[in-house]
Amino acid sequence: MSFNELHKATEQALTKAVDDICDEFYISDEKLQELTDYFIEQMEEGLNKQDATSSKGLPMIPSFVTGMPNGTERGVVLAADLGGTNFRVCSVKLNGDHTFQLEQMKSKIPDELLDDESVTSKDLFSYLSRRTMAFIKKYHPEYLAPNSESLPPLKLGFTFSYPVNQTSLNSGCLIRWTKGFKIADTVGKDIVELYQNELNAQGLPFVHVVAMTNDTVGTLLSHCYCSDNTDSLTSGDITEVAIGCIYGTGTNGCYMEEIKNIKKLPEEDRKRLLDEGKTHMVINTEWGSFDNNCKHLPTTKYDVEVDQKSSANPGFHLFEKRVSGMYLGEILRCILVDLHDQGVMFNQYRSYDQLPQRLKSPLELSSEVLSHIEIDDSKELAETELSLLQSLRLPTTFAERHSIQKLVRGISHRSAYLAAIPIAAILKKTNALNKRYHGEVEIGCDGSVVEYYPGFRSMMRHALALSPIGAEGERKVHLRIAKDGSGVGAALCALVA
Ligand code: BGC
Repeated sequence: MSFNELHKATEQALTKAVDDICDEFYISDEKLQELTDYFIEQMEEGLNKQDATSSKGLPMIPSFVTGMPNGTERGVVLAADLGGTNFRVCSVKLNGDHTFQLEQMKSKIPDELLDDESVTSKDLFSYLSRRTMAFIKKYHPEYLAPNSESLPPLKLGFTFSYPVNQTSLNSGCLIRWTKGFKIADTVGKDIVELYQNELNAQGLPFVHVVAMTNDTVGTLLSHCYCSDNTDSLTSGDITEVAIGCIYGTGTNGCYMEEIKNIKKLPEEDRKRLLDEGKTHMVINTEWGSFDNNCKHLPTTKYDVEVDQKSSANPGFHLFEKRVSGMYLGEILRCILVDLHDQGVMFNQYRSYDQLPQRLKSPLELSSEVLSHIEIDDSKELAETELSLLQSLRLPTTFAERHSIQKLVRGISHRSAYLAAIPIAAILKKTNALNKRYHGEVEIGCDGSVVEYYPGFRSMMRHALALSPIGAEGERKVHLRIAKDGSGVGAALCALVA
């Protein structure tokens, strides 16, 4: 075979291999229907099952939040927010007219707290308390001055974006870490207690952690507070804020469920709440854990590899590992290494060992790089070439870049289509689209993927139209970006605590 013939054969083999992978990532209309129905089944099972900790099903965790703000709430409270990348301490002033002012100090979580296996809970919560101290020094120094005893305690709402088996508004034990953390001795411990103990130890006993909330619950509450609950498109019709959700480093969502359906709540709690006139409670679905048994979730060999080799929680949060920002780049990285192994890409490297180090390093390729490749329309995909050189030190041919762009689009398409499933399922289960005359609903969304990934929201909308809610249902859904959800939401929780 001549060099040209060989080159052509390799390109054909590459195209075939890439098309096969893209076929595997394709979510058909039937699959959307099947997954939505299964999601509803799993929600119902999760609401009945007592134990959210060991189950491989949907955790469906009661949040003990039983009412929604209406925008008239007023007051100044502290909020702290531990996510996958940053820790924030904020002082939130709610003005009672849907608006707020927020002062914050944000710090990147030090790598050693995420990577070092010997880190303990004490290390983590002492770090959080030191950051809280820095915030108090700057924004509430009066509490550190002599004679500060007469000042009222400072209430703090804590947004903790990990699965917690919540037992009241301000108590609950960590079920397991997700995203990057691996600190083993936090699992099973009460998060509020850990934080409060360290605040006391740092000399901040006047800071009272009065509420703990998941970031999705915060997003739902803050969206309710900020939204004036009308939709300009329907000339003033009242819309319901039905779901709070995150598509960022991780993914998850929450919604209001009727208390009578939350069978996992102890009978006496349910009765007491109903007697107090409470009818609904926010449920944190922890949908990142949807179908951990992979009964219906599409699963490629790359998904297995990401779960088993690259993630800190193998066997759990398998839906998240197909959808969220932490993993989209990793899926692509695993595919590229495999295509090299098949001999159809990067043939200048004779063996795996010779590949650029970054291409061999788990979680090295960020989803942000994929977002640039997704929409690259430059000549010969020159921007993709630069992105791959910068992020992975990986030189590419035009044919390789063309294939990589196809793969990126296949991965993001699957992610967005899967992302629509919980929304369709919750809307269908709660009958939210038929509740009022028009049945319009708002979905408060936060997170880098839904906010910044090009085309993500419009792909989600396509999927919603193909899902059981249909095109008519999809038209009633308003996906809204809810900014600062975790800070304002935690503050709202703390205010009512
Ligand atoms: C966590 C959720 C969180 C979501 C978004 C997931 O990994 O389990 O509790 O809401 O990430 O931050």
